This record gives sequence, structure tokens and C-alpha cells, in this order.
Amino acid sequence: MRLFVAMDIPEDARAACGAFVATLRPACRNARWARIEGLHVTLKFIGEVSPEKGDAIHTALASIPSRAPIPITFRGLGFFPDERRPRVLWAGIKAGTDLAALASAVETALEPLGIPREERAFSPHLTLARLDTPHVLEALREAVKKAGRLAFGRTTATEFHLYQSVLKPGGAEYTRRATFSFTGRASE
Ligand code: 2AM
Repeated sequence: MRLFVAMDIPEDARAACGAFVATLRPACRNARWARIEGLHVTLKFIGEVSPEKGDAIHTALASIPSRAPIPITFRGLGFFPDERRPRVLWAGIKAGTDLAALASAVETALEPLGIPREERAFSPHLTLARLDTPHVLEALREAVKKAGRLAFGRTTATEFHLYQSVLKPGGAEYTRRATFSFTGRASE
């Protein structure tokens, strides 16, 4: 099973992203647009593991010490790795250091299971589209420039989820396997 750890986003932010993407789609038909209902904040990509390891991952995530709720603002747009050779179009996330600390706690919990830490700096985002060619239509670049600091909403996060990703021809489908409250409240 292919697993990752992520936070969900509130429905108003999802709707705002959906409305924005709808305005961009006509300008860039060859982008692989993310399914709006599947938008998430990835905390840790785990990859392919056995069902037994999946159980161990569940136990490790449940052992993460509780912490305060995390205020998150969804704002801004950009490209990975950069505007010149864009591979991913993202919506930005502002969350102070608490979200990065939580992502680090996830890494620390999973490391003893042989899941290596991410070497790149944690850069929280919502992937809106994947661009297969390093070439992006000028219209898309312009639209992103014009939208600038566009705000998509805010939330206060109290939980994260273990997701399974099933790769399908029309794009990956995500199934929630477990929910972990990190504020000390009961979770599923
Ligand atoms: P991203 O879209 O938030 O950047 C589930 O597949 C999620 O894990 C994806 O949405 C992607 O996060 C991230 N992901 C997928 N493959 C990855 C990889 N090889 N390395 C790092 N993260 C990956």
C-alpha cells in the first residue's frame, strides 16, 4: 500500500481553490489538475509499504505527543521548483513554525520503522496542478501573477490523517485509513 500523512483543508478553502482552478483550466489544458475533493496538506510522503508495516505506522503516529491546535492560512500561489521551470502549481500555506514542528514529529515517529526523514526543508503547500512539461503557458504564469496573494481561507488544525493513495489512470485516489487528533482530544 502507498501511504502518506496529511491534513485536510476546510470546505471553504476547498471551494475557493476549486473556483480559482476553474478560472485557470482553460488557459492550461495540458496540466494535470488535482482533484479538488482530494486537496490536502502533505506532512509526510511514506510510499509503498507492506500491510504489516502499515499497522506499525498507525501505532507510531498514534504515539506522537499532543500539542496545541495550529492556525493555518491558505494564501498565495507559486511554482515548484521555480517559475522558470515549473513542475507543480501550488497554493501557499502560512502556519508559523508549529506546522513544521508537527511534520518533524511525524518524521521522528516514523524513522525507527526505517522510513527515512525528508531531506528537503518542509514547505507546506496545496498541489493544484502538475505540469508534465517544464514549459508552462504564458497565460498560466500571467494568471498566477495577477492572482498574487489571493487568499483561500483559514483554519485551526487539530488533527491529521493517514491516507492510502491508489494510482489510477485518471489520477491518484486517496482513502483515509486513520485520523489522529494531536491536541489530546479523542480521535477516530
Ligand atoms: P504534494 O502533492 O502535497 O506535493 C500523496 O501522493 C502526496 O504525497 C502527494 O500529494 C505529494 O504531495 C506527495 N508525494 C507523492 N509522491 C512523492 C514523492 N515521491 N516524494 C515526496 N512526496 C511525494
